[in-house]
Amino acid sequence: CGIVGYIGNRNSQEILIEGLKKLEYRGYDSAGIAVFTGNTLEIRKSKGRLAVLEGQLQEEPLAGSVGIGHTRWATHGKPSDVNSHPHTDNSSKFSVVHNGIVENYLDLKDELAAKGHNFVSETDTEVIAHLVADEYDGNIVEAVQRAVKRMRGAFALGVLTEFEPTKLVAVRFASPLVIGIGEGENFIGSDIPAILEHTRNVYILNDGEMAVLTRDGVELMTTEGEFISKEIFHVDWDLVTAEKAGFDHFMLKEIYEQPKAYRDTMRGRVSEDNNSVSLTEIGMTAEQVKGIRKVHIVACGTAYHAGLVGKTVIERMARIPVETDVASEYRYRSPIITPDTLVIVVSQSGETADTLAALREAKRNGARVLAITNVVGSSVAREADDVLITWAGPEIAVASTKAYTSQLIAFYLFGVYLAQTLGTMEQAAITEVLTAMQQLPEQVEAVLEQSAVLKQVADSIAVHKNLFFIGRGVDFAVAQEGSLKLKEISYIHSEAYAAGELKHGTLALIEDGIPVIALVTQEELYEKTLSNIKEVKARGAHVLAIANAGSEVEVSKSVDELFAIPKTLPILSPAVSVIPLQLISYYASLAVGNDVDKPRNLAKSVTVE
Ligand code: G6P
Repeated sequence: CGIVGYIGNRNSQEILIEGLKKLEYRGYDSAGIAVFTGNTLEIRKSKGRLAVLEGQLQEEPLAGSVGIGHTRWATHGKPSDVNSHPHTDNSSKFSVVHNGIVENYLDLKDELAAKGHNFVSETDTEVIAHLVADEYDGNIVEAVQRAVKRMRGAFALGVLTEFEPTKLVAVRFASPLVIGIGEGENFIGSDIPAILEHTRNVYILNDGEMAVLTRDGVELMTTEGEFISKEIFHVDWDLVTAEKAGFDHFMLKEIYEQPKAYRDTMRGRVSEDNNSVSLTEIGMTAEQVKGIRKVHIVACGTAYHAGLVGKTVIERMARIPVETDVASEYRYRSPIITPDTLVIVVSQSGETADTLAALREAKRNGARVLAITNVVGSSVAREADDVLITWAGPEIAVASTKAYTSQLIAFYLFGVYLAQTLGTMEQAAITEVLTAMQQLPEQVEAVLEQSAVLKQVADSIAVHKNLFFIGRGVDFAVAQEGSLKLKEISYIHSEAYAAGELKHGTLALIEDGIPVIALVTQEELYEKTLSNIKEVKARGAHVLAIANAGSEVEVSKSVDELFAIPKTLPILSPAVSVIPLQLISYYASLAVGNDVDKPRNLAKSVTVE
């Protein structure tokens, strides 16, 4: 979602709408604004694109110089007029826009309902409006502070109240928020582009910080009420750069957003002691889980590659047989779907026609369908029985990066969920996996810091016409994703091969100087993979290994170059080892001069079969 806010002397409606247009990439299933008309807070909001709201405002404009606005990307509750922001309390004297998730909103909602609060929407945001109203005793800043103290999760807020119409209160807690400083006017925005047209001077809030804006100034403090001072950040980016948060391309921005996507996808789902997973959104009873005899994973493109890892995860953790298919094949191969089959469809967009057709086929045959998707309220999410959302946030670049890795995280969570229900993993093993998962974001960060090295690798690859990716086990699954990524955006041909299978045919294609990227992260398979590496080296290949830190001595003897990644559990390694491959693809695409974010002939979401 995206939020904006304005307090000044100009007509706020226009400023809010212009700001929301810049934020539309963050979500576009509904939009709304709240504006003080005189001393009354009035709201216009509606499901659909921003244009729908604009049409509404043309008929019934809101005249006033203080307001907040929101463009939504549904999380709690489907896209609808009533679930759109801003939200308000029963007195309609408070108005809130929110980006993020309040994890404990159901508990808060129950508590407030018991006190007589009535709720009209399914959203967590409405609970915030009621909570602030409940805490209010004459000071909006303190009321917000008290409310925030009771909320768990990730959120950025803009709050207005009729009781204090000269104040706009903003809070940041693990969701982005910036404050724009003007003359006689001030702004809030989810990101810099939303306010860049009006000011280049901003405060970038950190987690746990808040701001109180009036027409003439901005007061900064922590949510504990301690006043703070901050340096003004002067933005010298142009608008195009600002939309990408300073990155050259959306793909690069999204690659760097992966640590956050991992944290967001795990947030609220892993117990604090790392002993268990709770997936409240999955409605299956323990009996139903125990009744699953086989699993089919069905998806397209990159999501299919996540499904290949998912197969290993579920088989290892839950000991249930799994087949993974590309959706366009699945439906027409007369798959054996029975009522005790769990079909998992994986789709970033949730709109892929092939995947949707497979889902419907599965349902027709009586299977239960679980969707792993990045878009709440998407077709796949609506039609599936259960939905596991990946909280990667909107993905703009056609080549999928953070959506893929969040799908991996979803599979790990689901694997543990099955295992703890079925008793197929020892408690110690579950704790070990969940503890190691908490390390993944930092491990990814460590790889991202090495991007300069990967750029060099990419530059040397970009002069070739062909290359190979090899690996065994989940390394082979990652090799397939690495190869696809490179092909999609650099148009350099590559093939991913199971390392042990090369000698059964394709070895003939290995000739002098051909690059081979070998994934070597699975300790129990080291020796076997190293033998395969020697086979290609003997035929003149130039081998780059992606290997665990600590295995350099063993592996580097057999290869030409080695890129070390932080070591995690073997099953989790795809969530780290794919990162260098994404960066190599990105820089190779740059090196050959392609349009990285919009590769030729491809579309982000393909809605035809
Ligand atoms: C398109 C995109 C791919 C994507 C695939 C599946 O072909 O170009 O990048 O992996 O669709 O998309 P989905 O939204 O279902 O994950």
